[in-house]
Amino acid sequence: MFKSHGNLERHSILLLLSILVVVAIGGIVEITPLFYLESTIEEVDGMRPYTPLELEGRDIYVREGCYVCHSQMVRPLRDEVERYGHYSLAAESMYDRPFQWGSKRTGPDVARVGGKYSDAWHRDHLINPRSVVPESVMPPYAFLAKKELNLEDVEAKLATMTKLGVPYTQDMIDNAKVDLVAQSDPFSADGTKLKARYGEKVVARDFDGNPEALTEMDALIAYLQMLGTLVDFSTYKADAPENLR
Ligand code: HEC
Repeated sequence: MFKSHGNLERHSILLLLSILVVVAIGGIVEITPLFYLESTIEEVDGMRPYTPLELEGRDIYVREGCYVCHSQMVRPLRDEVERYGHYSLAAESMYDRPFQWGSKRTGPDVARVGGKYSDAWHRDHLINPRSVVPESVMPPYAFLAKKELNLEDVEAKLATMTKLGVPYTQDMIDNAKVDLVAQSDPFSADGTKLKARYGEKVVARDFDGNPEALTEMDALIAYLQMLGTLVDFSTYKADAPENLR
């Protein structure tokens, strides 16, 4: 046994291949059960696909690289839970393509930032973070308030998401533009249809404080205000059998 181990240690390529085999076995043992275990993704109330406006906001979040400084995953550690709220569930990022968990926190975790501040706070903060948090090192994103939102490819974006497993219906895809406009206008006649498609909890309002224009700021704030608000934690108990799929 020890003699043949000597051979292994003297031949670097053989050693390398053997290490790969051993590490691969470890990896398979850890990863494979996740595809079969019932508790990998919890069954929760309230998760729904993002509305077209939120999806556009999410794309702006990704485009601007907000994830470089902000994570979207509250770790199950006491200090995190006391600061941000309930730890993140796998189900909460089930419609994120790509996920935004992140491991870099120059700024705070934003997984539960929805409803924490007013729309006006977000607008001021994004235009000039120092106006509301004097010691902030976050860069300003004032241009978002002036840039009209491009609605051209919103149907195509929803259709692409369905290919990745997000359950948008054909009705949602066909009405993506109508729903998007309805969510940014609290007086829109299409608001009830938007809620029928995405649920009663969807908030329709003018997010950027400028009802004249539908801007990228509208979309980004709509997205931020939704973060962490979908799952109903009053009905969620970890380990309860009905919450396991
Ligand atoms: C260079 C790093 C950096 C980038 C990039 C960045 N932020 Fe921040 N962000 C911070 C820091 C630091 C704070 C904490 C101070 C403050 O509130 O401004 C913060 C705070 C926040 C908060 C308040 C969170 C809370 O719970 O108080 C929000 C919301 C936010 N950022 C959104 C964004 C969005 C949206 C983007 C992309 C458009 C972005 N950030 C890009 C560093 C960054």
